[in-house]
Amino acid sequence: MNTVATQHQRVLSGMRPTGKLHLGHYHGVLKNWLKLQHEYECFFFVADWHALTTEYESPQGISDSTWEMVVDWLAAGVNSGSAKLFIQSMVPEHAELHLLLSMSTPLSWLERVPSYKDQQEKLREKDLATYGFLGYPLLQSADILIYKAGQVPVGEDQVVHVELTREIARRFNHLYGREAGFEEKAEAAVKKMGKKNEKLYKELRNKFQEQGDHSALETARALLNDQKNISLGDKERLFGFLEGGGKIIFPEPQALLTKAAKMPGLDGQKMSKSYGNTITLREDPDVIEQKIRKMPTDPARVRLDDPGEPDKCPVWEFHQVYSDDKTQAWVQEGCRQAKIGCLDCKQPVITAIVNETLPIRERAQEYLEDPNIVRNIINEGCEAARDIARDTLEEVRQLMGLNYK
Ligand code: TRP
Ligand code: SF4
Repeated sequence: MNTVATQHQRVLSGMRPTGKLHLGHYHGVLKNWLKLQHEYECFFFVADWHALTTEYESPQGISDSTWEMVVDWLAAGVNSGSAKLFIQSMVPEHAELHLLLSMSTPLSWLERVPSYKDQQEKLREKDLATYGFLGYPLLQSADILIYKAGQVPVGEDQVVHVELTREIARRFNHLYGREAGFEEKAEAAVKKMGKKNEKLYKELRNKFQEQGDHSALETARALLNDQKNISLGDKERLFGFLEGGGKIIFPEPQALLTKAAKMPGLDGQKMSKSYGNTITLREDPDVIEQKIRKMPTDPARVRLDDPGEPDKCPVWEFHQVYSDDKTQAWVQEGCRQAKIGCLDCKQPVITAIVNETLPIRERAQEYLEDPNIVRNIINEGCEAARDIARDTLEEVRQLMGLNYK
């Protein structure tokens, strides 16, 4: 079913194929996905077209990076039984919706997305004054809207893109959600809910429209979701009628911000491939040990009996992610009173990361030995995605006058 009512529950997120994922991705995004996959209908995809918007001059690595990343997702515990996994370019319907949405998207909306100018500045060696790069956020909107997703788990930097998507949805609903006789149809639909619910719906609608009471809106939506006696078309009308607009074709998605622990890199900056300060999800235990042992510490601790200050040390940031209160107290005291050496201090972090990544390395083994398992998972995910994407496009084509059936 691809109606607004069920869509409020659907979760969608995408990641650019960056190759091997690291602990920053795990703590920042993946752990959130792992939780969501048990609570909602989830679709997670590899945004390979998005990668092309910046890598079009040397696209050779994209497909390898895609498979590496999917193996990491699965190894981290993303469950293909609960969540659908797919690759963007294997669901070309995204491109058609992108094109159709582009007709009514003001150029200025795209030009003012901050990443447009920022990334051009940052990636000066690439020519990003392209049509594809400007359209990147609209492609992201198409990714989200084609599934009518209600919730989009993303990092901070992507929130503006979800906000743009809300504007795109609103504009589309405004342009194409007005059918002839909408008000009358909506009034007739309200009556079908039965006297008691009709009264309640009207009260809640007034409260929202006259007083801007958002909790009334939420309650009314829940009421609509529970209705068994009205058709899906009527339900969508009534969702739109609630907010004073026409029929809602695209619900406005919410960004689900990850409240993740901030994952520092080995040098205390944010963990990121471009800083070369990462530990990958499937890193070899010996390499984990070497990398942590080489981490810089508070420069005041030249000799064992020089006291230090954990707040000036990136290792302490790792303890905040990985260590219990007792170990943290041991670090604080041992460091400030020069009772422990830095290598002693690093040991619990090494152990914690080796243990955390052990099941990930183990699970990855199965997929590395038989890549067909991964391909099958992706094929299944693509099919499920296309089923929904096709339905949405059918509806959109009709609304935009491309009705040849
Ligand atoms: N732009 C996102 C990034 O760079 C990836 C992405 C593409 C995405 N389409 C999306 C994320 C849709 C969420 C929803 O990380
Ligand atoms: Fe950093 Fe620990 Fe050394 Fe203190 S003892 S400087 S917290 S590694």
